[in-house]
Order: sequence, then structure tokens, then C-alpha cells
Amino acid sequence: MTIDNTEGARAQIGVTGLAVMGSNIARNFARHGHTVALHNRSIAKTDALIEEHGSEGDFVRTETIEEFVGALQKPRRVLIMVKAGDPTDAVIEELAAAMEPGDIIIDGGNALYTDTIRREASLRERGLHFVGAGISGGEEGALNGPSIMPGGPKESYAALGPLLESIAAQVDGTPCCTHIGPDGSGHFVKMVHNGIEYADMQLIGEAYNLLGSALGYDAGKIADVFTEWNGGDLESYLVEITAEVLRQNDAKTGKPLVDVIVDAAEQKGTGRWTVKSALDLGVPVTGIAEAVFARALSGSRDQRKAAVGLASGQLADKPTDAAQFTEDIRQALYASKVVAYAQGFDQIAAGSAEYDWDLHPADLATIWRGGCIIRARFLNRIKDAYDENPKLPSLILAPYFRDAIETAIDSWRRVVSTATLLGIPVPAFASSLSYYDALRAERLPAALTQGQRDFFGAHTYERVDADGKFHTLWSGDRSEVQA
Ligand code: 6PG
Repeated sequence: MTIDNTEGARAQIGVTGLAVMGSNIARNFARHGHTVALHNRSIAKTDALIEEHGSEGDFVRTETIEEFVGALQKPRRVLIMVKAGDPTDAVIEELAAAMEPGDIIIDGGNALYTDTIRREASLRERGLHFVGAGISGGEEGALNGPSIMPGGPKESYAALGPLLESIAAQVDGTPCCTHIGPDGSGHFVKMVHNGIEYADMQLIGEAYNLLGSALGYDAGKIADVFTEWNGGDLESYLVEITAEVLRQNDAKTGKPLVDVIVDAAEQKGTGRWTVKSALDLGVPVTGIAEAVFARALSGSRDQRKAAVGLASGQLADKPTDAAQFTEDIRQALYASKVVAYAQGFDQIAAGSAEYDWDLHPADLATIWRGGCIIRARFLNRIKDAYDENPKLPSLILAPYFRDAIETAIDSWRRVVSTATLLGIPVPAFASSLSYYDALRAERLPAALTQGQRDFFGAHTYERVDADGKFHTLWSGDRSEVQA
């Protein structure tokens, strides 16, 4: 029902920016019994929402920002769902001018976390609360229950949390929404979520490519494999939709749709941000980085076209035991996925330390169990692992994952070596396995790197048998001195 705006400040929440995500979230609030004030730059979208979905709950139609702000109960809560970047700053400025100290502005877009840190600091000076909230789940999640990652001041969560928790996905009676931490932490965590999403998608893509190129399976048969996998440890939203995409036939040609889609993956940028931030924090997120680079390589269409036909060398014969190789791929996918999550959680720990956020990995695993794009059965295992030991040095070291990798390791090696001998690219499978081998190695060639650095730049090194820093007089008598 539409509530006349002359009835005064009635709405519990306002949503501005009524493209699909914004309007679906507004409808989700209304369906949960909240009165929602609506605002959009052009009134046509507001009217369309009310026309098509007005019966779902109580909406207040507003045209100007002043009218919109005036329709809200105090403390006023406004969710901004506009394009990340300059449009967000413009809307924040307009809102801030019309709001009062204690009011709360929530940015639900995929904002860069450093922008959120800046915005939070500047609005805090004006007495306003700014909450950067990561929202995952796409259009469907926005309407039926997303995973929500709100950062910002803890006090604002008291007024905001119950509202957000009411519209979030629920798993075992627990909402997929919790206060993440101060300022930009919500958007930081959402960024890493997206990085993991990229890695997950790339790994699934490599498995699909192996099933097709090494075993000769067509899209329908590969769909059946993914459906079967979805009944086990790999159960997840992304594996489920993979089967659906692969099973879709193109109406125009009758071929599997996937076979007529151009093989150049695009990106809006959150995966790239994850890797940039990981570089700054010094955290090796190799699986995520390979996924971002794989998208970039796929998109270099001219270069790829020019390179078709380059030498492959002598290729091995295809595997003869299809059932065994399929199982090997399943195991490799699972183990590589563990690595991607382990690296993502390492980045979250590093971000938390860098910005003093005091983030709790078990909380994140809990709210990623439902609603979001990376929702998966094994997030329960991640939650258990961090519940048991919040200071786990790496997810890979948790007993459950340690055992899972021990079970998978032979398959994983067979997949990477077979793919290499067949000339099939597996950048994420291979780099995840190399990461694992490097992590468990007693000695790394970094000792040589240190020696080289000392040789050309007198950068010094540490010794295994003495404290302090040392330098060899490389251009002198090559004796060692303490630095
Ligand atoms: C989500 C998604 C969502 C969006 C991605 C797509 O969690 O709901 O991650 O945020 O679909 O940003 O990202 P790319 O366009 O970069 O693949």
C-alpha cells in the first residue's frame, strides 16, 4: 500500500537508487513489515515499483530528498543503492545536507573500502553515522535474502542491525548479517568475498574445461557431473548454477548456450581490487590473482587470435579411465577451493591487523553460509575451524581441511600434471598446488634470493644459526660482516 507522505515521519528505512538491486531490497524490507520510503533521481522508477509491487507492503512515495528525509523515523536510516564512485559521493552529500546528527547513511553498493573509510571519517565529523555495507546475492538475493556485511560505528548497528537481519538470508535460524567492524571493514570483507568468488568461478571453469577437453564430454554431460558433485562436499550455489548454465540450450541454434557465448570474461573490478589490496598487504592470494589474470587473458581477443596455432609440443594421450579422472578433478577442485578460501581469510586477517578492525573470521564464515554468491556447504567447516581456533595460522592447518587435502593430494597432482601434458591451461589448479607445496616446504629458494639481493645491493640477510643481519663483502675478500 502507498502511504501518503503528508502522514509525517513514518518510514523505518529509506532506499534511494531504485534500479533492480535497490528496488528488490526495498521490496524485501516491505515484505518483512517495514514501512519503506522510496526515492530515485527520476520519479518514473519509483512509480513503476509502486505500480508493480505496491501491494507487497507499505511504501512512501517521495520526489525530493527533503521529502524523502522528512518521511523517515528518527534516527533516520537511508540505504543508498547507486553506482559505486562519484554518484555515491553526490547522493551522500545531498542526504547529509538534509539529515541531522545521529542519522545513519548506509552505502549498499560495491564501494572501494578506502572510499568508505574516507566517507565515514568525513560524515563522523558532521555527527552522522556512515555504514559501508557489503551486500551479496545478486538480484535474487536482494529480494529473498542476501548476505549483508555492514561496517561502520558499532552504535549505529543497534538501530540498524535488527532491520538488516530481518531481510537477510537465514541459515539454521541465524541471520546472514552481523556487524563486521569499524569504518571500511564491511566493504573490505565484501571485496575479499568477491575475490574468492572469482577464484571459485575460475576453478569451476578449469574443471569444466578439463571434462570437455580431456574427456570429450559435451555440455549436457558436464552438467550432470556438476549436479552429482553438488550432492557432496562441493555443494554450493556456484556449482549448482554451473549445471544450470551448462544445461541451457540456445533457442536460435539449438546448441548448448555456453557454446555460443563469447569466451571473454568481463569484470566490474572487485576481484582486481582484492589483488591490489593483497599486494599492498603482502598476502599471497595466488588463486584469486590467477582468476583475475585468467579473465584478462580471455579478454585479450586479438592477441589470442594471433597466437592460435603456436606450437604445443608433443601432447600426451587422453586419460582412459574417465571415471577416475573425473574423481581426480573433483578432488583437485575441492583442494584448490580450500586454498582460495585460506588465502582470502589470510587477507582478511592482514586487513584487520593493518586497520585495527578486530575482525572475526568465524563470524564471516557464518554469514557467508547463506544468501551470498559463494555460499557453500563447506563454509560450515570453516566456521567450525575458526570457532575452535580463532587464531588459526592458515585454514589449511585446521584438522578437517588438512585431512581433506591429504585425501585429495594425489588426485590434485595427477590433474595438474595431466593437464600440463595435454596442453590444457589450469592456472588456478596449478598455482594453488604450488602454493600448498611452498607452504609445506621446509626450505624455499628465498635463501638464494636473499644472497642475490645482498650481492648486488648489500641488502643483508639473516643466518639460520645466529641472530642479527649479515652482509658478505662480495666485491672485497668475501668475508662476512655483521650489519
Ligand atoms: C555478489 C556479486 C556482485 C556482482 C559482482 C560481479 O556478491 O552479489 O559479487 O557483487 O555480481 O560484483 O562482479 P564482476 O562483474 O566483477 O564479475
